[in-house]
Amino acid sequence: MSAVESPELLPNGAHYVKRRRDSTILNPKSYVTAELWKQAPVLKGSTKFEPLPESRNILITGGAGFIACWFVRHLTLTYPDHYNIVSFDKLDYCASLNNTRILDGCPNFTFEQGDITSPSDVKKCLRKHKIDTIFHFAAQSHVDLSFGNSYQFTNTNVYGTHVLLERAREHGIARFIHISTDEVYGDVPIGAADLSETSLLAPTNPYSASKAAAEMMVSAYRSSFKLPLITVRSNNVYGPHQFPEKIIPKFIMLLQRKSKLLVHGDGSPTRRYVYAGDIVDALDTIFHKGTIGQIYNIASKDEISNTDICHRLLEIFGLPHKSPQDFLKWVQHTEDRPFNDQRYATDGAKLAALGWQPKTSFEEGLQSTVKWYQRFGEVWWGDISRVLTPFPVVEGTEIWTKEEHDALPSDEETALGENDSLWTTKALNNLQASGGTV
Ligand SMILES: NC(=O)c1ccc[n+]([C@@H]2O[C@H](COP(=O)([O-])OP(=O)(O)OC[C@H]3O[C@@H](n4cnc5c(N)ncnc54)[C@H](O)[C@@H]3O)[C@@H](O)[C@H]2O)c1
Repeated sequence: MSAVESPELLPNGAHYVKRRRDSTILNPKSYVTAELWKQAPVLKGSTKFEPLPESRNILITGGAGFIACWFVRHLTLTYPDHYNIVSFDKLDYCASLNNTRILDGCPNFTFEQGDITSPSDVKKCLRKHKIDTIFHFAAQSHVDLSFGNSYQFTNTNVYGTHVLLERAREHGIARFIHISTDEVYGDVPIGAADLSETSLLAPTNPYSASKAAAEMMVSAYRSSFKLPLITVRSNNVYGPHQFPEKIIPKFIMLLQRKSKLLVHGDGSPTRRYVYAGDIVDALDTIFHKGTIGQIYNIASKDEISNTDICHRLLEIFGLPHKSPQDFLKWVQHTEDRPFNDQRYATDGAKLAALGWQPKTSFEEGLQSTVKWYQRFGEVWWGDISRVLTPFPVVEGTEIWTKEEHDALPSDEETALGENDSLWTTKALNNLQASGGTV
């Protein structure tokens, strides 16, 4: 899609036309064709516990996004007679209703479009569905974007979490499970011990800082209002249904298109990876067996560098990669993030004591992820071409390459042509009616 022009209003009241040339607008409400989506496997976790008597109506924020859609499918299909699931999502650029389409006919599943930063959206939903339990996943989740668009991260991740907590406090709630990340701990030097839940938080980028700030609000609501909160900090998660802005699905789709893998920096940073089906089991375990007031790491032992991800994917795609020459036929190094943590390393003993262990090896999880993207990756979210570029820029559901976005006129340049007035007609009329002049 291209050449979209939309009249908008500047905060000072002036009109301007923001030129939105050569962008892609994603539509998270569009469905893949009937024939295709029915062929998608119904992916969920494998655990099942005795349902909690105090939980019946469960709100899952961000339910049309990656991890939450797995959890929505899991709870809806595993506990059909006990839990009613309400997926609450604003349908941002990375969401897709395809992620939960399989549930559309289930009597215990409802989708509500709403924004966690809107106190009235949240209040309406809590009341309408008599919500007693909240799983809070909704967030701006892509670190790369947080370097360019950090206000959006603070707004959604901090203020949005605050709104949910405050509305939950007013409404009354049996359990509120807040999804955080291992990134709140910051960089862990090579050779240092794995961090436990009591380690200091030391975030280093705007995304992780916003998640750490949200955790402070969670902690305050736990102390001040005795809200029954549990916080979960997970390692990196991967698997089918992840929007292809993140490294694993992005690289799969690039290889699928026979394009080079775009590796930020030298490719040496490592991350620990948990398969989506395994995090679902971990969350189900924490929900049914965890203790209110506690924090749980969800930790894996699969620590993989970005370079290693390239090797493993090239191997799966049957492309020669062992010699440096062969490797560089398929890998292009780009500039790095402004700051990139070398590694995160968390200790999972506390959750292991509740009985959870990851079941899916990285090899196995990666194989099934590749298979899914080869079949559905090109159609699930619409045109992902711009998403696959090194540093895409996102505003709402509109996406540009960095170069295209850099070439756009800034708001101010576009707003104030030589003869443009700062005054809207309405403001001007009001002013003149009161006897004033410009
Ligand atoms: N993906 C990972 O590797 C990972 C690891 C650890 C923790 N987490 C955390 O898990 C959660 C989910 O991550 P994900 O990767 O599945 O994210 P995602 O980006 O795939 O999904 C986020 C969802 O939140 C929705 N959303 C965004 N802003 C919203 C708003 N204002 N109101 C309502 N909905 C809104 C989006 O539409 C989207 O569906 C996040 O809190 C993230 O910080 C993710």
